[in-house]
Amino acid sequence: MIEMRSRFILVMPGIRMDIKDLSKIQRPKFGDAQLLMVQVAAAVVNSKAIRKAQHTRRAAEVREWSLMGISEDKGFGQSDPKVVEYAHRVFKPEDPLLTSIREESRRQGLPDIEVGVFDGLHLEVLVGMTGARRVVEIGTLGGYSGIHILRGMQPTGHLHTFELNPHHADVARENFNRAGFGAERVTVHVGPALTNLANIEREAPFDVVFVDADKVHYPDYLRWAMEHLRIGGVVIGDNTFGWGQVYREKGVSDREDQVLTGLRTFNDLVANSGRFRATILPTAEGLTVGVKVR
Ligand SMILES: C[S@@+](CC[C@H](N)C(=O)[O-])C[C@H]1O[C@@H](n2cnc3c(N)ncnc32)[C@H](O)[C@@H]1O
Repeated sequence: MIEMRSRFILVMPGIRMDIKDLSKIQRPKFGDAQLLMVQVAAAVVNSKAIRKAQHTRRAAEVREWSLMGISEDKGFGQSDPKVVEYAHRVFKPEDPLLTSIREESRRQGLPDIEVGVFDGLHLEVLVGMTGARRVVEIGTLGGYSGIHILRGMQPTGHLHTFELNPHHADVARENFNRAGFGAERVTVHVGPALTNLANIEREAPFDVVFVDADKVHYPDYLRWAMEHLRIGGVVIGDNTFGWGQVYREKGVSDREDQVLTGLRTFNDLVANSGRFRATILPTAEGLTVGVKVR
């Protein structure tokens, strides 16, 4: 966008003209170069008008948000890189072992779709707050979030984590071992989680269920959690902002429609079913957290 610093423009070397007089310019008196400059000046005037309209619309939005209790300077999430850098420096969400676990997963060809480093730390702290001994994870990948969860659990606790892809499951088992968590602390169940969850129901009730795979079926995992968490147990769902698209009724493809519908239904159920007291933490991806109350 062109920046206008003065109300005067240079129409020829040494000759300036007030913008408000532009309309008086007669085309035949000007050569191509001057005509171009006049067009540029008109664009500047237009861009000012556009900026003014944008400013007015923004002000109306901010007024509307403030009526809803949303303030512009305490926005949902904090994207200032200096604050992000500060938070990393002070809270140190990832230690060298976790960094090497992520790197090993890349070397083994696993996709780069672990939880964000801060979401990993959130998981560890949330799990720690529940004093969890029995935790269920949907979506193991290379075990990155699982290691965070295990670190938050009581020392005798057990994590059941579900993974569709056998290669991911193998890498995860190795990574769990490297992090000091053997078969007595973690079981990786291979196959579709919706089917395999039945195999652990005899161990219910669970303290925490973390959902991070198969977005279309998030509502089914939530219904399972409703029945198999203890009262006071916690359900956590990752990616619940739907990459910034969760509110859209229509995605760009049928697949995206299904994913967004899955995430919206999950959020609606956890927020409004009466079975949980829930919130959505404004992490980069959106982390929905609900405590089972009924
Ligand atoms: C987003 S990744 C999980 C990341 C992991 N929680 C972490 O942060 O380290 C999703 C994983 O779920 C697996 N997956 C996809 N559909 C699944 C299903 N129906 N049942 C179990 N696992 C599934 C994928 O193969 C992938 O490894």
